[in-house]
Amino acid sequence: MLDLTGQVALVSGGSRGIGAAICRVLAARGAKLAVNYRSSEAAAMKVCSDIKADGGVAHPFVGDVGDPAQVAQLVAAVTNTWGPVNILVHNAGLQHSAMAHRMSDEQWRASLAVNLDAAFYLARAVLPAMRAAEAGVVVFIASASGSIAQAGAAGYVAAKHGLIGLTKALALESAAKGIRVNAVSPGLTDTDMVADLSPDQRAGLLRMIPLRRIASPEEVAATVDWVVRGATYTTGNVFHVGGGVAMG
Ligand SMILES: NC(=O)c1ccc[n+]([C@@H]2O[C@H](COP(=O)([O-])OP(=O)(O)OC[C@H]3O[C@@H](n4cnc5c(N)ncnc54)[C@H](OP(=O)(O)O)[C@@H]3O)[C@@H](O)[C@H]2O)c1
Repeated sequence: MLDLTGQVALVSGGSRGIGAAICRVLAARGAKLAVNYRSSEAAAMKVCSDIKADGGVAHPFVGDVGDPAQVAQLVAAVTNTWGPVNILVHNAGLQHSAMAHRMSDEQWRASLAVNLDAAFYLARAVLPAMRAAEAGVVVFIASASGSIAQAGAAGYVAAKHGLIGLTKALALESAAKGIRVNAVSPGLTDTDMVADLSPDQRAGLLRMIPLRRIASPEEVAATVDWVVRGATYTTGNVFHVGGGVAMG
């Protein structure tokens, strides 16, 4: 397993849910955690103070990762604080529920901006230093919706399918420079993103999951931890953490 002591890790959307769990586990491995958030400042501060209380290093960094100018500022701020980013986890995401024939331009653009465009902006910003160092790890948090479709979320499904394509393209471009690019694809996970599901919706989703239960954010983070530190001979892969809902 790789030693992360002193490595700089940037996690987009690290203030809540799966991103917060990823920040905590990578910090426990010794990485310096850049905890990105867009609006949940108090939550990001809490993640950082918890990490520091456990002896780790963390700092909150604001920025909307769907905006290329803010991504450039974010990566510059992290680099000025600790040096180049060694580990990038693009986790920030959002899901609009609407059938395509009722989806607004704004909903479509917002889905693509944070779930897909942001991955490109972040990777573009960190890859030059990784290429110069001939080392680096990139993990994109995709979704089962990146491999199988669901009705009522066309922007999200399209963006997550695109994110898996981007994973493979960047993996191919980066492999010769010693940089690994993989995707981790959660299924239904117990976070704010799914808090509004009605009991009927939740029961319907659980019936489709072979393991018949929802994942914890920590179960997804444990897989990210393994992809970062342990899966040293993988690149361009999609690791499903979906209780069997998407296989392969
Ligand atoms: N939960 C699930 O069932 C599930 C299933 C499959 C895949 N996923 C994927 O897992 C990832 C994390 O989801 P989650 O369930 O943990 O979501 P969540 O609880 O809703 O948290 C979303 C995080 O993303 C941040 N964020 C959203 N838009 C942002 C932006 N434009 N710039 C910067 N940060 C932004 C939020 O920060 P602020 O609060 O500051 O905006 C928050 O920290 C997402 O990519 C999601 O698609 C989740």
